[in-house]
Amino acid sequence: MSRQRPERCVTPSILSADFAKLEAQVREIMDAGCTVIHCDVMDGHFVPPITFGPIVVSALREALGDEVYLDVHLMIEAPERQVAEFAKAGADGITIHIEATPHLDYTLSAIREAGCHAGLTLCPGTPPDAFAWTDVDLALIMTVNPGWGGQPFLRGQLEKIRAVREMLGPDTPIEVDGGVNPTIAKECADAGATWFVAGSAIYGSDDPAQAYRDIAAAAGCS
Ligand code: DX5
Ligand code: ZN
Repeated sequence: MSRQRPERCVTPSILSADFAKLEAQVREIMDAGCTVIHCDVMDGHFVPPITFGPIVVSALREALGDEVYLDVHLMIEAPERQVAEFAKAGADGITIHIEATPHLDYTLSAIREAGCHAGLTLCPGTPPDAFAWTDVDLALIMTVNPGWGGQPFLRGQLEKIRAVREMLGPDTPIEVDGGVNPTIAKECADAGATWFVAGSAIYGSDDPAQAYRDIAAAAGCS
């Protein structure tokens, strides 16, 4: 497994990909220079939709090899029960929701003990205070309500990105997730974001590789 992670990157969300052609669709973006893939796991409880579990993460790891960094975003209740399975399946980073467990510190420690980077995220309406006293390897700022691709970017979250950058200092990656396109990626980068999730802007495009390059250029990743 690759634990190397870039300082800045665009991380395509496979949520908007065609799951019948998943390997080919991910490889197309990897050929354009992408090294980090965002996997959105939803359980039908924390968010209404159900997507996939460790089996798909494991299939991606098997198909894509050790070069790719699998950035797994868990939109599930009680993630403490599942993190070991996702680590075993080949996740490199596992991000949990602050709203999904009372056992934050415990779960983040369990992720690290399983050998992964421990990420913490929060819904748009949740204040970012916990970042001031919780040790994280990555902070993910949801810039849409979790659960669906293709939603419009919530501009109020730019202020949250600035606040979290202030709290964490310059070194911890801040990832933004939801409604990201080249223009918005640039605004988020200016606010302090360094990782940029993009689903529909890449896989909804006629030329996903070019769409990836456009976001990467706008966000200063290339
Ligand atoms: C939403 C997911 C996102 C989603 C983003 O709950 O966490 O990763 O795929 O999709 P776009 O880029 O289309 O907003
Ligand atoms: Zn996500």
